[in-house]
Amino acid sequence: MPIIGIDYDKCISCEICISACPSQVYSKSNNADNKVIFDPEKKCILCGQCIAQCPEDAIIYENMGESFTFDEIGELSSLVPYENMFKFLAANRSTRRYKKDKVPIEILNKVIKAMEYAPTAANMRPENFVIISDSDLIKKMSDAIVEVFSNDPSLKEQFSKQLEFHAKEMRSPAYFDAPHVIFVSSPFNIMMGGFNIGNIITYGRLAAQSLGLGTCWNGWTHLAFHKNPALKKLAKIRGSLVTAFIIGYTDNKYYRVPPRSKKKVKIFE
Ligand SMILES: Cc1cc2nc3c(=O)[nH]c(=O)nc-3n(C[C@H](O)[C@H](O)[C@H](O)COP(=O)(O)O)c2cc1C
Repeated sequence: MPIIGIDYDKCISCEICISACPSQVYSKSNNADNKVIFDPEKKCILCGQCIAQCPEDAIIYENMGESFTFDEIGELSSLVPYENMFKFLAANRSTRRYKKDKVPIEILNKVIKAMEYAPTAANMRPENFVIISDSDLIKKMSDAIVEVFSNDPSLKEQFSKQLEFHAKEMRSPAYFDAPHVIFVSSPFNIMMGGFNIGNIITYGRLAAQSLGLGTCWNGWTHLAFHKNPALKKLAKIRGSLVTAFIIGYTDNKYYRVPPRSKKKVKIFE
């Protein structure tokens, strides 16, 4: 069990861990000492809320990675005020033109690190990540996607013309000749699996933007892999649900944020 218990030299019995835990692994002891106790028999989902909220850093854990802190932790709005966050989100674009240069692995690892912090249902975090930077393998996978689409009447109708157009100047049109493709796969076909992958990719894409990189979701991977699961073997990807995004140095320049229609929001007060 990665959460081992409570360091009673530090614990001040504030009971914050009891209210923080979604799995009721902490409770008040019935003994006269009135200590907060940890029950290892209860199913902890390793969300780390107890670690994050304990004012005394009194939770003992192992094999969960390292927790860390920083000055603005108590007031994240001072780190990224809404106005900056809004510009950052609104100006995020899908990049479909890339420079040929590869992104150093240390930078790609920073993207992966951000993806590791994406929330997943019940904190299961079962997803696997694969980075492909081999342009021949990217081409092979792009060719396989093009083939799946050309053999499926509805996918052909929707995407084949677009892919044929890009194929005139690109070697790997399904991946826009990006230098890297990052695949995220879920080993289980769980109900929330697609939401998890969506969150993970969004975290990765936003992290990439803050590192000066361009990205684009690749739903085509998801569609093609769904139609022909054998494609997963090309990149030794395991899992029943697979999606990808492409990443590299952008060759686009932006001057403005495009318009977006306003959503009607029903409000019940
Ligand atoms: C789930 C999802 C799947 C997508 N799949 C593809 C894709 O396969 N190919 C592609 O060129 N763009 C894909 N996109 C990008 C969308 O076309 C793009 O986000 C949308 O047109 C808005 O443009 P913007 O991202 O530049 O603001 C996908 C986006 C999402 C959210």
